[in-house]
Order: sequence, then structure tokens, then C-alpha cells
Amino acid sequence: MRMYSVFQPKSLYIGPGALSQIERVIETIEARKILLVSGPTVEKLGLVDRTLQAMGSYRGHTEIFINPKPEPDIAIFEDCAEHAREIRTDLIIGLGGGSPMDLAKGAAVVATHEEGMRPLLGRNLLRKKGIPVILVPTTAGSGTETTQAVVVEVPEEQTKKSIWDPRTMAEAAIVDPDLTLDMPPRLTAETGLDALLHAVEGYTSREANPMSRLYALEAMRLISNYLIKAYQDGSNMEAREAMARAATLAGIGCSNGGLGAIHALALALDSRNGFNHCRSLAVLAPWVIRFNSEGNENLYADIAKALGENVAGLSAEKASLKASEAFLRLFEQIGFSPYLKDYGIKKNELNALALKAYRVGQRLIHMNIREFSEEQTISLFREAFGEK
Ligand SMILES: [Fe+2]
Repeated sequence: MRMYSVFQPKSLYIGPGALSQIERVIETIEARKILLVSGPTVEKLGLVDRTLQAMGSYRGHTEIFINPKPEPDIAIFEDCAEHAREIRTDLIIGLGGGSPMDLAKGAAVVATHEEGMRPLLGRNLLRKKGIPVILVPTTAGSGTETTQAVVVEVPEEQTKKSIWDPRTMAEAAIVDPDLTLDMPPRLTAETGLDALLHAVEGYTSREANPMSRLYALEAMRLISNYLIKAYQDGSNMEAREAMARAATLAGIGCSNGGLGAIHALALALDSRNGFNHCRSLAVLAPWVIRFNSEGNENLYADIAKALGENVAGLSAEKASLKASEAFLRLFEQIGFSPYLKDYGIKKNELNALALKAYRVGQRLIHMNIREFSEEQTISLFREAFGEK
């Protein structure tokens, strides 16, 4: 067994009403000037106001930065960092889904590195600490509140890249399922699927370790039991709480255990019209899982079991196949198509798309449990297209 490390925020506050702790958390950081980074939908839903209220006397020392783009690019990160520097921010709060939280984490480290964001993209390239960050998710999916990664859109390369460094880790994460109650069913399903795939890849990655697997497995069990319940009845607090906890556990799982081919190949799709992060994952998951399970039957049998499949008495090989079947069944229940042809992709662009996905996914592909080639990526994309 090789050594491994486990990073997570210094403190986690999880459960209904956790937002009420934010004033005390700010106090421990001894902040005097705060930048609250959020998104337009979160603001419209009144969650920015609710957070400011919970901040008590710190409200008067807070400025707000609203992320103007669903998938923020480098220019927005640098703009936000510049603003933080100008007003001498000593605490950044990220409130929202993955994008505003990533923006908060990214701006916090870009603000202390005068060379801008581009040279920081990659693994462990930060030289200094960032501004302290508190993260407050309003969805249950990205897990960004617990990860050591910042994802950013790089427009000139039409893909996403990331800063992967423990120095991006938040001081505190406040995971309050009350804040997720307004999520519509579609967003509940999409973000829940993202969390589930953080767990699956955090469990199977080459870099997985006993701790990441522990978190990932529990996340899978929770999501399997509660995603449909939260999707069907958004006011089901038990389901919302379980999903919020699962997303956080899955985030710790993949941040420490790594990702794999599903997230890697999804990078090239993410920024295309008709896609978002979760749809890109949906068209890859069943096929990559089936591909990966060959030679790794025991791992995928564990996943099938965690997803509630009846694997009693089955050989590991047969049980492992049930993992991808579980995904196809889940997609039927939440109305997702697992086929590229249903998202406007044309058959004649499959090869080019697969090759691009293989190229831009390199930084994550090496973590995938099974090695694969360009040709195998093309076969996977043909399968994902949905027409033999
Ligand atoms: Fe993801």
C-alpha cells in the first residue's frame, strides 16, 4: 500500500440550519473586509440576502460580486481577483452552485499571484496561500465546497482546465440543505448525477485510497436511496439533507481519490451548445462504466451493490455489469437520454469529437482504472451516439 494524503476544508458545518453558523465562522477568521461571490439565480432566489442576514454585523463590511456567466472564464476570475485586491478583501465567501464557488476559490488564489491565472493552471503550481474562503453550496452536486480543484473555461482552447492544489481548499464549508429546497427537479437530477459520478470515479480511480473509497461508497448509497425522492418531491427535507451530505462526501472522495474517463472525456463536450457538465457526463457514464468494468469486476460489483442492485449469488463479472444497467435505469426515471444523437451531435462529427475529447481529457485520463487508446475512445463515442 502506498502512502496517501487526505485534504478537506478545515471545518465542515453540515445539516439543516448550518447557515446560522456563518457569523461565528467569520469571527474565527477575523475578517474585516469580505467579498461575497454568487450567481444571478441564487441572488434572485433571495439566498444572497439570507446569507447577508446570517452574517450579522459583518454584513456592513461586505461587497457583492455576481458571476456574469454560467461557466466563468479566465477573464472573469481575474476580474474578480482584481476586485478583491482593490478593496483589500481578507475573506471571500462563495455562495451558489459549482461556478460561483469555483470563482470564489479561484479568485482567492489568483489575487495573491501577480502573474494572473494562466500560469497557475495545472497540478500543484501555486506558490502562495490565497485569501481565506468560506463556501456555501446551494445545490447538491458539484462538491466544490470540499475539493482542491478550481475549474475554469479557457475560451481560446474551447475547453475547461483547472487549478488542482490543496491551497485552493476552503477554510470552512457550510452545507445547509435548506438552501437547496428551491432547486427545480431538473437541476436536482443533474447535480445529483454529477455527485454520483464523483463518487463512482473517486471509488474506481487509479489514485483512489481507502479513505476516498469510504466517502465515495457512502455517497453512492445515499444518492441511490434519495436522488429520486428529492427529484420527485423537492420539499422532502430528509432527501435534501441526504443529497447535500452525499455531494459533500463525494467531493471529498474524488478530490482525494481522483476522477476518471467520464469526467475526462466530458471536458470536450461541456462547453458545446446543448450540453452542460451533467449532460456531458450522462452520455458517457453507462458506456465508460461498462468499458472500465472489464478487468475490474470486483470494484464495479461493489458499485452495483451500493446502487441497490441485487447481486446476491452472482459472479463478480455478472454483478459488475449491473453497475451500468443501474445508470440506464436511473436515467429513465429522471428523463435523461444517454445518447449523443439526442443532444444535436451528428454522426459525421463523432470521430473528431472523440479525438478532441481524448486530447483535452489527458490531465484526468491517466487516473482512469483502465488504460485506453484513441481508437477505443472512438468506439466509446460510437456506442454513446446511440446507433450501431
Ligand atoms: Fe463533476
